[in-house]
Amino acid sequence: MTRADGPLDGQVALVTGASRGIGRAIALELARMGAHVAVNYQSSEDAARAVVQAIEAGGGSAETLRFDVGDGDAIAAGINALVVRHKRLDVLVNNAGIALDGLILRYRADDWKRIVDVNLGGVFHCSKVAARTMVRARSGRIINVTSVVSATGNAGQSAYAATKAGVEGFTRALARELASRSVTVNAVAPGVIDTDMTAALSAETRSAYVGAVPLGRTGTPEEVAAAVGFLAGPTAGYITGHVLAVNGGMSM
Ligand SMILES: NC(=O)c1ccc[n+]([C@@H]2O[C@H](COP(=O)([O-])OP(=O)(O)OC[C@H]3O[C@@H](n4cnc5c(N)ncnc54)[C@H](OP(=O)(O)O)[C@@H]3O)[C@@H](O)[C@H]2O)c1
Repeated sequence: MTRADGPLDGQVALVTGASRGIGRAIALELARMGAHVAVNYQSSEDAARAVVQAIEAGGGSAETLRFDVGDGDAIAAGINALVVRHKRLDVLVNNAGIALDGLILRYRADDWKRIVDVNLGGVFHCSKVAARTMVRARSGRIINVTSVVSATGNAGQSAYAATKAGVEGFTRALARELASRSVTVNAVAPGVIDTDMTAALSAETRSAYVGAVPLGRTGTPEEVAAAVGFLAGPTAGYITGHVLAVNGGMSM
């Protein structure tokens, strides 16, 4: 059962990488807005189930959906089954991502392949499968989670920044391609957000990052989720091809 009075009432949303961190907060926000949410994960099954339980406890509706966004065939099987079950897919949030940091001289070709497959290939394959349903429906929202580093760069993150900048280019091109079918494509580019991904940073690196944030603090997953919720909602219907920064002013 979805909520009867939310702006996304009756809609179906898929959030990739929603078992933890930013994706979890996005799943909760879209469910709060009334959507039935598919909570995608790769390995954290218990955490993904806990997200579904939290949504249901709040009166919303959700299901877990396992696939590796680095695997195009698994993506097609997972999303097509979701569409068969619900007969629609209104919102796709391409949030799943990995960092795999390293300086270029020591960067492994295997890591390059994996980060491109997950961060860039995942967005391509998920969008391709979802777009088929959205184009037919003449309606849909695709929202990609990128990063401030696609604009600023960051030593040790050349591969990560390349994938995120690639997703921003993909966002603009796909926005033009799908606009005639009333499908919008946007991105949200977070700065330093408190999740498992940033928990591994040393105190020194963390304080250097925070020192570069005009608002003087890290962001929360909920602050990123609010921006995604806005782009998924009915008041954002005239916004497409946009990259919305949620970074405390780190890049402006
Ligand atoms: N945290 C930040 O400061 C920050 C800043 C800018 C951008 N971002 C971006 O925001 C997004 C979310 O980041 P986060 O910090 O929330 O990350 P996180 O805490 O590390 O969580 C990553 C999520 O992605 C899922 N995932 C990872 N690889 C996957 C795969 N191959 N297939 C399916 N799911 C996969 C994980 O699922 P499992 O639990 O099953 O592994 C988990 O749910 C990423 O795209 C990241 O690049 C984060």
